[in-house]
Amino acid sequence: MKLKVDYNNMMRPSVGERGIDESVFANNAAAVKAAHESVMNARGKGWQQWCDSPYISDAELKKITDYGKRVKDKAESYVVLGIGGSALGAIAVTGALLHLRHNEQPREKRNAPKFYVEDNIDPERMNALFDTVDLKTAYFNVITKSGETSETLSQFLIIYDALKKAVGVDEAKKRIAVTTTIGKGTLYNLAVKEGFEIFGIEGGVGGRFSVFSPVGLVPFAALGIDIVAFLRGAAAASKAAEDKNVRTNAALLSALLQCESMKKGLCINVMMPYADSLKYMSDFYCQLWAESLGKAVDLNGNTVHAGQTPAKALGVTDQHSQVQLYTEGPFDKVVTFLTAEKFRGDCVISDDKSVDACDFLKGHTLGELITAEQKATAYALTKAGRLNFNVILSEVNAETVGELLMYFMYQTAFAGALLNIDTFNQPGVEEGKKATFAMIGRKGYEAKLAEVNAAFHSDKYIVG
Ligand code: PA5
Repeated sequence: MKLKVDYNNMMRPSVGERGIDESVFANNAAAVKAAHESVMNARGKGWQQWCDSPYISDAELKKITDYGKRVKDKAESYVVLGIGGSALGAIAVTGALLHLRHNEQPREKRNAPKFYVEDNIDPERMNALFDTVDLKTAYFNVITKSGETSETLSQFLIIYDALKKAVGVDEAKKRIAVTTTIGKGTLYNLAVKEGFEIFGIEGGVGGRFSVFSPVGLVPFAALGIDIVAFLRGAAAASKAAEDKNVRTNAALLSALLQCESMKKGLCINVMMPYADSLKYMSDFYCQLWAESLGKAVDLNGNTVHAGQTPAKALGVTDQHSQVQLYTEGPFDKVVTFLTAEKFRGDCVISDDKSVDACDFLKGHTLGELITAEQKATAYALTKAGRLNFNVILSEVNAETVGELLMYFMYQTAFAGALLNIDTFNQPGVEEGKKATFAMIGRKGYEAKLAEVNAAFHSDKYIVG
């Protein structure tokens, strides 16, 4: 495994008395062993089928790469319709691996379709998509594990209708692929009836753990991303997670440190990448951490209201907006930096002799400056007694990104086991989905509608 975690600034010698004491390892040895065993023993079973995702069969890999090759050359635009776990992996990985201005590049430079992920149902955004994408050359991938999500189904209905009008019924059917649970759900049934190409999601792979399944792999293949290297990175992180020694198992170690931070009242987990290519890793991580660990009850039925609120920041941009709070505000945060040792390109700050100023900057590179600023921010936080650690990639490529995402997933699974909660359910989200069905009149949700209406019974506290 190439990924490194520098956790010096989580510990007392660096950060002072608020830091984590060395005794954390001895004091939690039994709990860490139990958490590690529970995650390891469940690999490939129940809701931990995602652990098997890096080891895709040759037949499935071929099906995905064949589709990818076909679409990559034909499509001018490739559009994913999906939300939450059915969208955030694609956004994070393409943000990291495609050119930072991919869609603005000419076709011969980008050598792949333009890419859009429609993960909201703002009507203005849908209209903007129609204003931007030429349906005559666009391909779509409708991704929903349940096959029931209102947002994705409504987007699908709008797009399919428009596509049929633009290219005709037969061609429209060829332009839509569906990624969903085989044999189950409204979208699956529809896809079979309409004859769309279908990619399956295993039953025990939840949305936020699905980026290594066809949910991620299909769009990545259509964009020419090296999915074999991506899966190789995931397999390396998966292997590393087997290590029983918490001091050498990066995912287990960072789970323990975050859980220890929660005990100290550090209830906010700030993810702060120092690379634009890693910007959307924060969105992926925020969902994973929030939806997995934010739980009302533990596995014994005790009310715990567990969780740590994830927050997003981007270095260096947010040094000029949020870092003041992180350094001097309440002692309630851990900052996780996300850095790359090497940028894929650099830019020299011109040593222009005709400009008689800024000599301290001249001749350096932007890579040197951003690296110095990350270290400076870590220094300032540490000096102020604020816990922070650094997750370091050698560089951003398909393999290291695969490794990083799998590391996040194991870190989350270990943290859930340490907290003794169900990491893989999301009853809070399901409640909202059911209420939506009720309010838009879905059959079978009449009792829920009465319940929802009763909750909005008063106008006493409305102003204006
Ligand atoms: O992680 C999850 O389970 C959720 O975020 C889901 O991915 C999200 O609600 C979308 O669900 P679906 O893929 O069923 O449309």
